[in-house]
Amino acid sequence: MRILELKVEDLRILDGLDINPGTGINFFVGGNGEGKTTLLEAIYLAGRGRSFRHPMAGPMIRHGKEATTVFVRMVEDGSTGNVRSLGVRRSRGGLSCRLDGKDVDKRSILAAALPTQWISSQPQVLLESGPGVRRRFFDMGLFHVEQDYLSAYAAANRMLKQRNAALKSRDHRALVAWDKPFAEAAERLHDYRKPYVESVVQRLKTLLKAWEVNFSVDGRYRPGWDQDEGLVEQLRRKREQEFLHGFTQVGPQRADIEFVSQEVPADRILSRGQEKLVVFALNLAQIDELAERRQVKPILLVDDLGAELDERNRRRLLEEIAARNIQSFVTGIVPPPAINPEHVAGITMFHVEHGNATVVN
Ligand SMILES: Nc1ncnc2c1ncn2[C@@H]1O[C@H](COP(=O)(O)OP(=O)(O)O)[C@@H](O)[C@H]1O
Ligand SMILES: [Mg+2]
Repeated sequence: MRILELKVEDLRILDGLDINPGTGINFFVGGNGEGKTTLLEAIYLAGRGRSFRHPMAGPMIRHGKEATTVFVRMVEDGSTGNVRSLGVRRSRGGLSCRLDGKDVDKRSILAAALPTQWISSQPQVLLESGPGVRRRFFDMGLFHVEQDYLSAYAAANRMLKQRNAALKSRDHRALVAWDKPFAEAAERLHDYRKPYVESVVQRLKTLLKAWEVNFSVDGRYRPGWDQDEGLVEQLRRKREQEFLHGFTQVGPQRADIEFVSQEVPADRILSRGQEKLVVFALNLAQIDELAERRQVKPILLVDDLGAELDERNRRRLLEEIAARNIQSFVTGIVPPPAINPEHVAGITMFHVEHGNATVVN
């Protein structure tokens, strides 16, 4: 996927941005508060129907305005090379989206049309926070790679809700009736997740090895229940506990990837910069997985690439992005280091000032 034109209106400081990004790396340099992160937020909003900063519309709509709009003209990957247009409008009242002139009422349609890979300015959160963040990370990756994943995910979630409702109302019969279908739905998710996570972790390790980093890391998939015992049996065994807590104690809603370095949780011993390299590599691994399995190249959004990285690692990450021949939007408070000129698409430099971005020659 490549964005040909990006138009943003009334998103925070961006009140009339209109740019034609380059096909490779687009690097946005500017001081604090000039609108760099917001520019990435605009693309994210178009691709996912929500912001990465705050779930509510209020804070992102420019003060004194009714709504914010993002319009993207883009070209699909592969031989079709179809040009598509995507517009989203977010007001306090809700979200409306149009894809190729037709109304769209599902965020998943946006995400499929404009896949985005997002690396925040604090990517270490992925290693440092609870399992939910990591689950969302690989669920998002799987959603793009496996066509049926979303429906499998939704089915398991629906059953989980029913089970939890039965627990809350102490409806023993209803609860027992849900055990088996829930376990089956869980197995389906597990069958997608296990190989996917393992493959991404393998790619992560290969990348870190190629980078000759001075630390080791491993990622272990945790399904959310004991595979030897089986989910139905475990649900039965934990019935008392479940009624006590009022929600389901085991299952795919508890899945995780446990990242370890020298047998302890990675975030306990890695430096911030090392953690950033790990999360960056994980994102590249997901991009490679998607490119290889579905021939889709997502748009990569990287906020504040330079933070906490030394010069060598900045260059390395930029070259890894360039080598993938994907379109990316990268921000920084200082210009990027020069990269190997063999990367044909190269870097298009923009200067961002007070919500405007202009190409720097
Ligand atoms: N709703 C809003 N209306 C107008 N300006 C806003 C709104 N929300 C945030 N801002 C301003 O927009 C800018 C956002 O900048 P940001 O993209 O985060 O900057 P940076 O270039 O540092 O990444 C800040 O200057 C902030 O004060
Ligand atoms: Mg910023």
